[in-house]
Amino acid sequence: MAESTSNPPSSTLPDGIVPEEVVDRTEKRWTMIMAAMLAIMMVVVVASGVLGALHPASNVEVIDPTTLHLHGEFVESNLGTAVEPDGSVTVRIIAEQYEFVPRCVQVPVGTPVKFRITSADAIHGFLLPDTNVNTMVVPGFVAEVRTRFAKLGEYLMPCHEFCGLGHHAMWAHVRVVPQGPPGNPFERVTCATQ
Ligand code: CUA
Repeated sequence: MAESTSNPPSSTLPDGIVPEEVVDRTEKRWTMIMAAMLAIMMVVVVASGVLGALHPASNVEVIDPTTLHLHGEFVESNLGTAVEPDGSVTVRIIAEQYEFVPRCVQVPVGTPVKFRITSADAIHGFLLPDTNVNTMVVPGFVAEVRTRFAKLGEYLMPCHEFCGLGHHAMWAHVRVVPQGPPGNPFERVTCATQ
């Protein structure tokens, strides 16, 4: 007994049991590593927010989803592409089970485009591949995303939030067309559904 207590614990413990002070040291080291990782992540979150690289998926703007079709910005005649006085374009879309209204929108190339989109029922998603456009569409809120299309083409616009049995068939598209002459050849243009 006397000889075992005089030895360092590490040499007296059976195989597989780690001495207490080694456990303490390891735990302390990992605690510091975790604290450092947390600190780095906090710095990244705050810095990217301050520098404007990180922002919520949409502005916080509420709307009554039960009266979209009756009055206000999202009545049927106001949907689609509209040209603003400054030459930029606003596209208004309603997402509902299981379609986007309108199913196709045209926007001029190289022009600032603002998408305003809201849902009439469930949570939907609004995504344009290869662009910065990617947001949830939550009933009761208006999602707003700004972008600019650099080249002509057609973008598939799938719903990417599961919204029910018809989710897989819920999609629309954006057609990027040449800029027209001054004036507004794009006002509320909707293209044929294919
Ligand atoms: Cu709408 Cu999925």
